[in-house]
Amino acid sequence: MIQDARIRWEEGDLACSAFWHSENGIAPHKKVVTAHDTLTADDAYHLACEGTAILWKGDFQSARQLLQALVRRIDKPSKKSKRAGKRVDKLGEATTQKTAKDIFNQYRLVKSQRARILGMLLIQCNADHTISLRRAPDITQACLEAYGVANQSYVVSLRELLGVISAYEWRKNGLPILADSDGEPVYVHPHYGVFSPVRGEYIELVCNAPLPKALDTDSSAFDIGVGTGVLSIILAMRGVEQIIATDQDDRALVCAQENITDLNLDSQIEIVKANLFPSGRAALVVCNPPWIPARPSSTLEHAVYDPDSHMLKGFLDGLKDHLIPQGEAWLILSDLAEHLGLRTRQELLAWIERADLTVLARIDTKPKHPKAGDESDLLHFARSAEITSLWRLRVQH
Ligand SMILES: C[S@@+](CC[C@H](N)C(=O)[O-])C[C@H]1O[C@@H](n2cnc3c(N)ncnc32)[C@H](O)[C@@H]1O
Repeated sequence: MIQDARIRWEEGDLACSAFWHSENGIAPHKKVVTAHDTLTADDAYHLACEGTAILWKGDFQSARQLLQALVRRIDKPSKKSKRAGKRVDKLGEATTQKTAKDIFNQYRLVKSQRARILGMLLIQCNADHTISLRRAPDITQACLEAYGVANQSYVVSLRELLGVISAYEWRKNGLPILADSDGEPVYVHPHYGVFSPVRGEYIELVCNAPLPKALDTDSSAFDIGVGTGVLSIILAMRGVEQIIATDQDDRALVCAQENITDLNLDSQIEIVKANLFPSGRAALVVCNPPWIPARPSSTLEHAVYDPDSHMLKGFLDGLKDHLIPQGEAWLILSDLAEHLGLRTRQELLAWIERADLTVLARIDTKPKHPKAGDESDLLHFARSAEITSLWRLRVQH
């Protein structure tokens, strides 16, 4: 929903204002100037860097090009960051952890500075989500899906708006997650702001892991943190008869429900709003928590960052109260956090032990996403070593 804060600017002698919208919770900018097609990329870059927001009044496609020009200015690789990556490659185990963490913090700082500068180019949308600029696309449906109904004109960053448009395309086209029994692809349609299962490697793990024997007598599962519904859908297609899936995020709950209904799986999967577990016990409990134990810097990052491993530890600690005897839990987790020095393997094993769990097996796979091979990425040293695992856990007796 469009928030209740106003952004103010002047047009000639006229004082203007509109609602301000930011999914990342950015406060309305204090210094705002209007700009037309005559503004050069260098001038825009200087304004943005010094904290002046630019409300665009020119051609919409020129604003897009201007944003790309700002990206190019920001992304020019600095010699310093290249050197930092090389240094880590050469360091031994003992010193890598601290240095890796430093580099991760530097990476996040660079990302947030980049987001701050790129977020300075603003667009005004009308109450019906149309844009009164030359060559503006029709984004009505995209904004309705992401923001809902707006009762007033509002201002938003162009960068966020482009994210809304791209999410709309993903939702419309869907993402293939597996093939059904006839070999036809099964799609989920991610909604704006919902964790999108673009990394296929963990999906393959859930498709191929051996189902626990306990399901033969009690065909029930819980899916903790349902997102788009992808894991519940896989389990349902693998024959699990009753699945209860939870999430705390309203967008995820709506998205999962829609995907499940589209696939005619309502009789097998129930969606419940809950913090971690629903009540009761199941033969299989799956969870793919956010993989990085760090504070999210925006609401959209809540599915990626898990501060203090809160969800991970909550999941492990709750299993003994939610698994039937001989039941099994599947924890999907990458070791990226370990390579970044944010969590050790010993810590993870200690949390498993503390929760009275034993590890039955661990199925490992190597991520295939393009970032893993991107040598220019500041985190390449960690991403290139990353392993994603499905941990099969059981309660100790
Ligand atoms: C990494 S995403 C995984 C989504 C989906 N299961 C998948 O594998 O694609 C983590 C999900 O957990 C949800 N989540 C975070 N904390 C939660 C909690 N305490 N209880 C339930 N769900 C939670 C997030 O909203 C997000 O949808």
